[in-house]
Amino acid sequence: MDEKPHVLIFPLPLQGPVNSMLKLSELLCLAHLRVTFVITEHIYARLQRHSNIQTRFSCYPGFQIRSIPDGLPENHPRGDKFMELFDSLKVNTKPLFKEMLSCGDLGSRITCIIADGILGFTCDVANEVGIPVFSVRTVSAACLWVFFCLPKLIQAQDIPFTGDDLDILVKNVPGMESYLRHRDLPGFCRSSDIADPYIQMYKMECEENARAYGLILNTFEELEGPILSHMRTVCPNIYTIGPLHAHLQTKLAAQPTLPPPFSNSLWEEDRTCMTWLDAQPLKSVIYVSFGSLATMTNDQLMEFWYGLVNSGKRFLWVIRPDSIAGKDWESNIPVELSEGTKERGYIVNWAPQEEVLAHQAVAGFLTHSGWNSILESIYEGVPMICWPYFLDQQVNSRLVEAAWELGLDMKDTCDRRIIENTVRNLMEVRKEEFLERADWMAKSAKTCLSVGGSSYGNLERLIGDIVSMSK
Ligand code: UDX
Repeated sequence: MDEKPHVLIFPLPLQGPVNSMLKLSELLCLAHLRVTFVITEHIYARLQRHSNIQTRFSCYPGFQIRSIPDGLPENHPRGDKFMELFDSLKVNTKPLFKEMLSCGDLGSRITCIIADGILGFTCDVANEVGIPVFSVRTVSAACLWVFFCLPKLIQAQDIPFTGDDLDILVKNVPGMESYLRHRDLPGFCRSSDIADPYIQMYKMECEENARAYGLILNTFEELEGPILSHMRTVCPNIYTIGPLHAHLQTKLAAQPTLPPPFSNSLWEEDRTCMTWLDAQPLKSVIYVSFGSLATMTNDQLMEFWYGLVNSGKRFLWVIRPDSIAGKDWESNIPVELSEGTKERGYIVNWAPQEEVLAHQAVAGFLTHSGWNSILESIYEGVPMICWPYFLDQQVNSRLVEAAWELGLDMKDTCDRRIIENTVRNLMEVRKEEFLERADWMAKSAKTCLSVGGSSYGNLERLIGDIVSMSK
């Protein structure tokens, strides 16, 4: 029997969380731990199609993947109907997960489970079978802190609120009183009904997190220290080990026998954009991407397109095939837009984003403010324009502008003139100021990953705690 510590990892089956949990898996493999990665059959099939997950992880003899049904039909949109996915996981996947843990065919005894904290059922199952569990949250500490404060916000009648009072400051999220407005709370807080399933779900799942042995966060102390000290009053054992993608890059750089990090993409990457970027001047391009779940209407698409073309700046734009609500948008593009794009733009369905952000031609990122995207941008010192779509993104975008001063928040607007002006502001008028600030934050992100740095130390502590659990 192999007595190495054996960690079972269970991510939320969506692109962002799968991305960061695969990086965490690889970091644990590099520390010679065994890892079983449990993923839904649907996501596993997509990873097999578009990433090189099998080849990549064949470098690690202690790594295995187990897939599990999510209980939904193949053609279900999943991420688009998140609540249905969530409910199905709770009802259909939970008993299968328990069976997987109980049947003893995972190779060796499971030392601990590391599961997405939003999947509270994993905590129940872990308790039932007597295995310690760590929660991971793949959102910012600030957003998680807002979730933790939901009961207080409800009690103080801060939420739900109407559309008339969006600029009122929120007084019941300690540490964020000076800048968090109603409009910066997660979108579901705008619901008129306190029984809204999202409000109830996020409130309840946070209570679950406090039951875990520890909470692992993809962030770093220098970025979110003040909020983290509030969080520690509720969850004392927090491991901040981010930015995970860069943490892995740093560790791999010290292991020249291993191939460089690979893509975890659920879509086919179009690498021609790297050749296009190579031909652009230094720090001249704004990269535009709204992540893996956000969608927009035809009208919004047109506003962004005119805004980008009229700004006169070069742009690389990811338009995911399933992200535009209208079907025939490609056949009705006004001639001034196609010409402006031919001159200064490039559009792809999906890009190798980490590489794009690291490219010397890129000087700005127009983003939906997903947490992975923000961390990737921070690490590469790229200032941001935020156009949040939902959930954590509304909180993140406020932090980018008001707490970290790393860019501009464009939430609740979608107007070509505003987009044009905001792009000019970031890429021209205030370019030096933002680049300087982003460069400073990027340096502190790099420091936290080096020997003696906060994330470096916290990962060592996490590994040490897992090893001692196995004894
Ligand atoms: C959303 C949330 O906003 C996120 O914060 C939450 O934790 C989960 O749901 P998503 O839309 O997937 O996630 O955004 P994000 O967290 O930014 O993750 C997107 C990932 O896809 C990033 O790692 C990014 O590098 C990658 N990506 C995106 C690509 O590789 N290519 C692309 O073209 C676009």
